Amino acid sequence: MNLQIHSDRITAELEALASFSATQAPAVTRIVFSPVDLQARSWLKQRCAAAGLTVREDAVGNTFARWIGAEPALPAVASGSHIDAIPHSGRYDGTVGVIGALEAIRALQDAGFNPRRSIELILFTSEEPTRFGLGCLGSRLLSGTLDLVRAASLRDAEGAALDQVRTRAGFSGPLAGVALPPGAYHAFVELHIEQGPLLERGSIPLGVVTAIAAPATLHIEIEGEGGHAGGVLMPDRRDAFAAAAEIALAVESAARSTGAVDTVATVGICEVFPGAVNSIPSRVRMTADVRDIELERRDALLATIRERCSAIAAARGVTVRCEVLNADAPAQSSPLVLDGLRGACEKLQLSYKCMVSRAYHDSLFMSRIAPTAMLFIPCRGGISHRPDEFASAEDIARGVLVLANALARLTE
Ligand code: HGY
Ligand code: MN
Ligand code: MN
Repeated sequence: MNLQIHSDRITAELEALASFSATQAPAVTRIVFSPVDLQARSWLKQRCAAAGLTVREDAVGNTFARWIGAEPALPAVASGSHIDAIPHSGRYDGTVGVIGALEAIRALQDAGFNPRRSIELILFTSEEPTRFGLGCLGSRLLSGTLDLVRAASLRDAEGAALDQVRTRAGFSGPLAGVALPPGAYHAFVELHIEQGPLLERGSIPLGVVTAIAAPATLHIEIEGEGGHAGGVLMPDRRDAFAAAAEIALAVESAARSTGAVDTVATVGICEVFPGAVNSIPSRVRMTADVRDIELERRDALLATIRERCSAIAAARGVTVRCEVLNADAPAQSSPLVLDGLRGACEKLQLSYKCMVSRAYHDSLFMSRIAPTAMLFIPCRGGISHRPDEFASAEDIARGVLVLANALARLTE
C-alpha cells in the first residue's frame, strides 16, 4: 500500500490550530472549555467531517470521529490525543497526535484501504491539569477511573464546578455516560512528541513507548504567622514561605536521592499570601508533581516528602497539610500494539528506540480499557511546554506514516 502523507497539509493544520490561542504566537495557551478551545474544537470537527468521518461528543467533550469499517460491530482501532495547551506553551504537544491521526486516516482513505474494523480519532478533553488541577480528565472519565463524586467536586480557579463549565461550553448529559467498557476498542495508539531529548540526541527518528511513568500530585499548604517585615524579629518568626522554600528543596533532594534516573519531582506552583513586599508570608499553597516508572519507588518518595514536611513543620512552628490529589499507577504498553508499531517501523525500514515516557498522556488511562501503546517523534532539544517547542515537518510526517501503517495492521 503506497501511503502519501501530505506534510504541507499537516503543517497548515497545526498552524491553524496554533492560531486558536489566548496568547500571542509563538506561545500557545488553550485552556479547556475556553473560547479558543471551543473554536479549535469546532474547526477540528469540520476537518473530520470533511474527511467523511462520523463525529460525536460525549458529556465531558471527548470527541470521536469514526471511519466506519467493513465490520462496524467489531471493536474499533482508535488513535488520538489532546489539543488543550498549558499557558505559554508550544504548538506540538498533543496536536501532533490529533492531526496525525486525522492525516493517517486520510492517507489510508486515499490509498483505497478498506478497514475491517472502524478507525476512530479521539480528541480527549483536558489532558492538561491547568484548569481543574487534575490531568487527563477526559480519558480518566472515559476509562471509568475517575470517581464521579470526585469529578463533580473539581473546581477551577474561579470556583466554577466542572459540571457548570462543561454545560456552559455546550457539553451536557450525565458524566456517568462517559465511561466506556473494557473491550470498547481493539487497540489504541497515540502519536506524540517525546518531550525529552533522547531521540534527538541519539539521532533516532522514532520512539516506541513500552511504559508510561506513574504520576502523582501533592497539594501542600503551609500556615505560619504573618506580620510586619520590619517589626517582627527573626527569632519570633513563623515564616510560611521560608518553610515552603525548605520543603521545595526537600522535594528536590528526595527525588535526587533515589539514585534512579526515572525518579522526577517538581514544585511548579507556589502561591505566597499575602504577597506583599513588606509582609511576612502567613500562608503558602504549593504543588509537588512526583513521578517514577516504578510504582513502589514513586510511593516511597511520596512518603519521604510527607515525612520531610512534618519535620520542617515541627522545626519551624508552622502547620503543613499534604493532600494527595492523584497517585496513578504506571502503564505497560500492550504487546499487540507494540508489535503493530515495531512491525510498521521495520516494514518501512525505519530505526526506532524502545523507551519509557516520563510525561503522562491519555494513553496512561486508555491502557486501563484497551491494548495501548505510543509512538514518539523527536522534538528539538527535548523542549516542551514552552513556546520554542518544535518538531520538524519531516519527523511529523514520518511518525504519521508509521501510525497509518500500524493502524492498518491493527484493523485486520
Ligand atoms: O504533565 C504531563 O506529563 C503532560 O504533558 N500533561
Ligand atoms: Mn503537556
Ligand atoms: Mn501531551
